[in-house]
Amino acid sequence: MRLFFGGNWKMNKTTAEARTYLDTFLGPLSSYDADIVLFCPYMILPAASQKAKGTPLSLGAQNLYPKPSGAYTGEISPAMVKEFATYVLLGHSERRIYLGETDSFINEKVRVALREDLKVVLCVGETAKERKEGKSSAVVRKQLRACLKDIPGNNLNSIIIAYEPVWAISTFPGAKPAQPADAEEMHALIKGWFTKQYGKETRVIYGGSVKPDNCEELIVHQHIDGFLPGGASLDPESFLRIINRSLEARKRAKKP
Ligand code: 13P
Repeated sequence: MRLFFGGNWKMNKTTAEARTYLDTFLGPLSSYDADIVLFCPYMILPAASQKAKGTPLSLGAQNLYPKPSGAYTGEISPAMVKEFATYVLLGHSERRIYLGETDSFINEKVRVALREDLKVVLCVGETAKERKEGKSSAVVRKQLRACLKDIPGNNLNSIIIAYEPVWAISTFPGAKPAQPADAEEMHALIKGWFTKQYGKETRVIYGGSVKPDNCEELIVHQHIDGFLPGGASLDPESFLRIINRSLEARKRAKKP
């Protein structure tokens, strides 16, 4: 499957900083055969989309509200996102944990986003406690089932799953990256779920302390189709190194 690299900037960077970042980041992108997306704060999207015009970079929002318009102070509609971005990130664990987002609310957002022709990167992943209790597979299956409820299979080209174990996200206390074999096992499980549910797979990318130094050992695994780095995507050189090293490692591993 075609590799996918999404940088999740979270709540970082001003528009001026984003412009400087893109001055470095955009140049090398045309030499990479992969989907490359920056998930920027809303405020940055207009300037970033202007700079990215005519380049291989796609942009994504980090959230949306599942209504077309109305009295939802502080929220952003799918149509507003679509003016500047082609992707949206949904179900991130930081939104689940800090803002109380539930699977059913995320499901509403996925439905609306797909209806508006946005491409969705849906995050799933278990907490440290759930992993310790041996519940990782059950938790992720439940998240998939609930977040994708009533989503028909003809949408699969517009859905990417990001497996992001909460315990691996660098900003949570005690975080450590998943062992490649553990990530691979969960990716295989997610792909298996899709095959059972829809008769075909979708891309599954990994997020959680991805760095230039550990991307190669992860990407050589069969079911890992790319990455969603957070911290390491904030520096353009470091994100470019992740993309470059992963593509080279994939080539060496001769994965289809
Ligand atoms: P880190 O790469 O900083 O661990 O963040 C991962 C993440 O949450 C991406 O969505």
